[in-house]
Amino acid sequence: MPQQRVAFLGLGIMGSRMAANLVRSGFAVTVWNRTREKADAWSAEHGGDVAASPAEAAAGADAVVTMVVDGPQVESLLLGPGGASDAAAEGTLFVDMSTIAPSDTRRIGAALAERGQRFVDAPVTGSAPKAQDGTLTIMAGGASEDIDRAMPLFEAMGEVIVHVGELGQGQMLKVIGNAVAAANLSTLAQAMLVARKTDVDLDAFTRVLGAGSGGSTMLTLKADALRRHDYTPLFKLEHMLKDVRLCLEEGQRAGVPFPAAAEVREVLTAGMGRGHAEDDFAAVLEVLEGLSGVRL
Ligand SMILES: NC(=O)c1ccc[n+]([C@@H]2O[C@H](COP(=O)([O-])OP(=O)(O)OC[C@H]3O[C@@H](n4cnc5c(N)ncnc54)[C@H](OP(=O)(O)O)[C@@H]3O)[C@@H](O)[C@H]2O)c1
Repeated sequence: MPQQRVAFLGLGIMGSRMAANLVRSGFAVTVWNRTREKADAWSAEHGGDVAASPAEAAAGADAVVTMVVDGPQVESLLLGPGGASDAAAEGTLFVDMSTIAPSDTRRIGAALAERGQRFVDAPVTGSAPKAQDGTLTIMAGGASEDIDRAMPLFEAMGEVIVHVGELGQGQMLKVIGNAVAAANLSTLAQAMLVARKTDVDLDAFTRVLGAGSGGSTMLTLKADALRRHDYTPLFKLEHMLKDVRLCLEEGQRAGVPFPAAAEVREVLTAGMGRGHAEDDFAAVLEVLEGLSGVRL
């Protein structure tokens, strides 16, 4: 059983579950969270130590995992005042599992490399249920030797683990994937509203689409929640908007349009305007209902 010391920074929907799987797998975990009470509650449930700062968590750690919202947050936790890098030894492995801009990843990696520290990006898909079960898909970018070092951590948290390329390529693949997921969900919600208005039975809709080429993971995961207008946050709408924006920015830089992503960015933006930032991104349904005047 591994006894490596791991600092885990960020105990939100995903991080709280992922860190718990590290404890279950035998790692010695020290957690830090911006809101201290959440870290104390987590520790009372799962064990592990609570640190007062990212630096305190990182002191003596073999690996430092981040699971916060965006690039500026990761940069500040690792490289800002009281940041983890200052307290970590040379050779420490930093593993960022948040979804952030690939350019931020490369910049943070370069700064850590100047201090003799290692960095891999390892964003995930699977949302809260797979974070809970330790069955996330993990797409990792970085040097092979660093990915190898991180592999025991990945195996404790994930099921499908893919080394996708150099540092930053995990993030690039992740934001592309989320743009596809958001566009799929929006398309599904639009289709369900047409079905509702034209008196198509929605049970039949789900069964028939699911058995054919109109089916999708979003149909399987979200059709029932949409029908119940249940927006319990598994993946917050504001985070999905962040990822779609990041994908569009990278596409624009590369000179490649992604019209479906641009469309769903506007739908998600309208969701923000309607006050659904903290709701699940399934709340795009509210926007589409407003647009169509149809209630699902
Ligand atoms: N949920 C999903 O399905 C899912 C799936 C794949 C990837 N992701 C990605 O994983 C990351 C985390 O997502 P989540 O769903 O776990 O988000 P979340 O529930 O909103 O948790 C966010 C975490 O970041 C911390 N945080 C927020 N602002 C901060 C700041 N300024 N400084 C330091 N810490 C800060 C929060 O601390 P507090 O407790 O103090 O607020 C919390 O620990 C995001 O990049 C997201 O895009 C999410």
